[in-house]
Amino acid sequence: MPPLIEARALRIEFGGGLGGGPRRRALDGVSLAVPEDVATTTALVGESGSGKTTLARALLGLVAPRAGDVAYRGVDLGAMTRDRKRAYRREVQAIFQDPFDVYNPFYRVDRALQAPLRAFGLAGSRDEAAARIEAALETVGLRPGETLGRYPHQLSGGQRQRVMIARALLLAPRLILADEPVSMVDASLRATILETLHRLKTDRGIALVYVTHDLATAYQIADRVVVLYAGRIVEAGPAEAVIKAPRHPYTSALIAAIPEPDPLKPWGIEAASAAPSTAIATGTGGCAYAARCPYAMPQCRAAVPALTTGTDHSVACFRHDEAAR
Ligand SMILES: Nc1ncnc2c1ncn2[C@@H]1O[C@H](COP(=O)(O)OP(=O)(O)O)[C@@H](O)[C@H]1O
Ligand SMILES: [Mg+2]
Repeated sequence: MPPLIEARALRIEFGGGLGGGPRRRALDGVSLAVPEDVATTTALVGESGSGKTTLARALLGLVAPRAGDVAYRGVDLGAMTRDRKRAYRREVQAIFQDPFDVYNPFYRVDRALQAPLRAFGLAGSRDEAAARIEAALETVGLRPGETLGRYPHQLSGGQRQRVMIARALLLAPRLILADEPVSMVDASLRATILETLHRLKTDRGIALVYVTHDLATAYQIADRVVVLYAGRIVEAGPAEAVIKAPRHPYTSALIAAIPEPDPLKPWGIEAASAAPSTAIATGTGGCAYAARCPYAMPQCRAAVPALTTGTDHSVACFRHDEAAR
């Protein structure tokens, strides 16, 4: 059985060509698979500029790769028939960071919920559409009577984001891609919204790709964690293994930056700064993390370490063997 969705050796570049400006590589050699047979949550983790949104957009078919491809249920997005493409558009839904952007401020939120049902011909009648919308709102913890008939600005950020989740649900998706879904939401509401997303996986079998810069929430809801740095995957594996026994110094730095001190820091000494950088893979030179890495050696500046293969927990670091000590 092919994966539900798969990225294969993706390379995505911006700039250059007619647009002008230097060509910058946002993703390089990124491969990732979400299984079809069991619903999982995959967290894409990394600091700002690491390529998370670009990867999510590539999985949504919104940005064309310079190399590599994305396949949904075994079929390359670029080679799909119209019917398959339509099924993919319904089955893969996105939730973005700022739900306000998705709404038209002049229309009641009802419209945002009715439009997808209409676009995909999913409700036979007005009554059926209304019943489905109410059920979806209730699933995400909203009272239809307090939500419908309102304008976007009359809802809180948390309510707007819940309406977006309800909107995705109406289409009975197989996969939801949520890009920083709680970063614009009040801290007090974040946990319940993440819990709602998590329940969609456990109760309805909807796979989730959760994009975040926050390793702590990734650990809470993810089965797998994929760590991106400057457009490359530096570590990937089961959430438990990645967090409890990180093998890349960048992952260790991210863990060290989680407010609660972690006694399991395998790298012993003070971890490197996890402050945001604008680092981006240039395709030349060595490991993009070398400049910040307290363990860098000459080899790290000369060549890009490949992601290890053969085990479920992979790492791209020349010194990964030493991390296990
Ligand atoms: N549309 C775009 N045009 C030019 N550069 C872009 C565009 N989208 C992203 N980038 C660049 O690609 C890199 C990765 O960005 P992004 O995927 O948004 O990272 P993240 O979501 O992890 O913060 C950044 O250097 C960013 O400036
Ligand atoms: Mg982003």
